[in-house]
Amino acid sequence: MLVMGIESSCDETGAAVVDESGLVHADVVRSQIALHAPYGGVVPELASRDHVRGITPVIREALRRANVGLDQLAGIAVTSRPGLSGALLVGVQVAKGIAWGRDLPIVAVDHLVGHLLAVFLRRGGTGTSTGTSTGAEFPFVALLASGGHTAIYRVDGHRLSDIRELGATRDDAAGEAFDKVAKVIGLGYPGGPIVDRLAAKGDASRFAIPAPMARRDSLEFSFSGVKSFVARHVAEHGKPKTDADVADVCAGFQRVVVESLVAKAIRAAQAQRVRTIVLAGGVAANRELRQTAADACARAGLSLAVPPIASCTDNAAMIAYAGALRLADGERDDLSFSIATRTALTRVTRKGGGKRADHAP
Ligand code: KG4
Ligand code: ZN
Repeated sequence: MLVMGIESSCDETGAAVVDESGLVHADVVRSQIALHAPYGGVVPELASRDHVRGITPVIREALRRANVGLDQLAGIAVTSRPGLSGALLVGVQVAKGIAWGRDLPIVAVDHLVGHLLAVFLRRGGTGTSTGTSTGAEFPFVALLASGGHTAIYRVDGHRLSDIRELGATRDDAAGEAFDKVAKVIGLGYPGGPIVDRLAAKGDASRFAIPAPMARRDSLEFSFSGVKSFVARHVAEHGKPKTDADVADVCAGFQRVVVESLVAKAIRAAQAQRVRTIVLAGGVAANRELRQTAADACARAGLSLAVPPIASCTDNAAMIAYAGALRLADGERDDLSFSIATRTALTRVTRKGGGKRADHAP
């Protein structure tokens, strides 16, 4: 059962063909990084316009690489939330057009559910019949850290009702903090991969950057304090001057963010009595995060499933797969469904410091 996934929630235009076993037949991502880089962040109106330019060629390319026509598809899956409204509308309108024109079933997919299920994708390249599996199984605790979201979930299955947020960030997402810190110290956009590379050569202990939300019992995160600490340092002392100074700031910042993410994910798995931790989202591409999580899981006797980087950063394969599972359950959405800027997953953490999570196992 081949399903086409379409993704346009933020600054990547994606189309993919995946089957319900998670095998990726094609996954095309057209990045808008160069378009937004001069502004140091995503400009929503530019994003929507570029999705309009890119969506048709990206879909054509995905079909070409999978070597299938629209008539061979069992359905269409499209990201309908959360994301930038104008950006989401482009993918949703195109998906609805194809579904209506070809009389194909369509399902709307929550982008965060896509990220959480991306660990089951098997990428083998064209012509491979099996792909590589991460070996993950339900139930697991997922650490989802991206540019727009950072939260820990308990995931018991693929349905919305099987997924429960255990705690999230009260302010900035982890990726957002990486991007903002990179900006104040004068690095490019997006900051995450640049900080990752520079931190590898730095001394994490040189600048005493305070640990974010270190309270042992909380599964909530806060990254705005770390970001402000670096911004204040730059305001008082100027931007780091030498390559070594830049590397040391990157290393110190990355260390406290990674330690906070990993410590809370481990605590969540222990409280939930779940044996597996899954990394998800763009920040899961971070090498120190992958290594620190592997070491901490080994010490705690937990298993860690880390998807390949192409499955962590935004892609349409994860949307196609999440949709394929819904279609395989016999579900489909009416063509009248709309987009939403917020996730459909229930939340326990309110941004800006609302009610605290209930951490009972
Ligand atoms: O999941 P994603 O591709 O898009 C969203 O849904 O937000 O995540 C993008 C975020 C950006 O903030 C980017 O800086 C961050 O992920 N990121 C990284 C790395 N690669 C991407 N952060 C830290 N280290 C990396 N290697
Ligand atoms: Zn994402």
